[in-house]
Amino acid sequence: MKYIKNEVKIKELFNKIAINYDNNNNIISFGLHNFIKKNAIKRLKIRQNTLILDICTGTGDIINYILNNNQPRKVIGVDFSSEMLKLARKRFKNKKYVKFINSNANNLPFCNNTFDYITISFGFRNIKHKIKTLKEINRILKLNGKLMHLDFGKSNKFMNIIFEFIVNFILKIFYKKSSPYKYLLKSRKDFYSPDELIKLFKNKGFSLEKRVDYLFGIISLQIYKKSS
Ligand SMILES: C[S@@+](CC[C@H](N)C(=O)[O-])C[C@H]1O[C@@H](n2cnc3c(N)ncnc32)[C@H](O)[C@@H]1O
Repeated sequence: MKYIKNEVKIKELFNKIAINYDNNNNIISFGLHNFIKKNAIKRLKIRQNTLILDICTGTGDIINYILNNNQPRKVIGVDFSSEMLKLARKRFKNKKYVKFINSNANNLPFCNNTFDYITISFGFRNIKHKIKTLKEINRILKLNGKLMHLDFGKSNKFMNIIFEFIVNFILKIFYKKSSPYKYLLKSRKDFYSPDELIKLFKNKGFSLEKRVDYLFGIISLQIYKKSS
């Protein structure tokens, strides 16, 4: 994972793009990320009155979908970008049972076996200390609790070319020469494939319950159960 040299730089990047993050996601994905996130949460089948943690929450997009059709007891979002969290807090200011905490994902301020569900969407790819983070997730998730992981997958060459063409085209229009989103393309290329992720997660005590590939594999959802 050569591209993640410095956590401070990653944090700076997300602080910088926070204000346009949601709009840019809509533009780059033609709004499709909304459908995919909604569908992913539906597949998690969240029970009522449960405790849910969204890691790398950003502006709280995933929490938005969690609240759409479910009645959890409490939802907590964590992120290390203060600018992202500012927007997330504003978005959910009327929901007393939604809280946000500024924390690195690799050192989470929660007791062992706390959460019924943990979600991480387009976040794990950006985390520098992935193994440490997985150990943390395993520590704070209840036994048999569910982990939802959503991110770029590995599509075929043709879909890759189309995806990169569209993203580059849009970025040129919006950002001219230099774009913080160039990082997105690099990080996507260098990220684990879904098959590699499933092996890695299995090694850390999570068994795969469900895998769904969206857009011919450009995006991949995996739902795991904490088995040990
Ligand atoms: C691409 S955004 C994803 C936001 C949201 N989950 C979504 O699906 O739209 C990635 C987020 O991960 C956060 N992040 C990256 N590394 C992190 C770390 N080590 N600890 C906490 N947050 C981190 C960034 O600040 C950023 O807000």
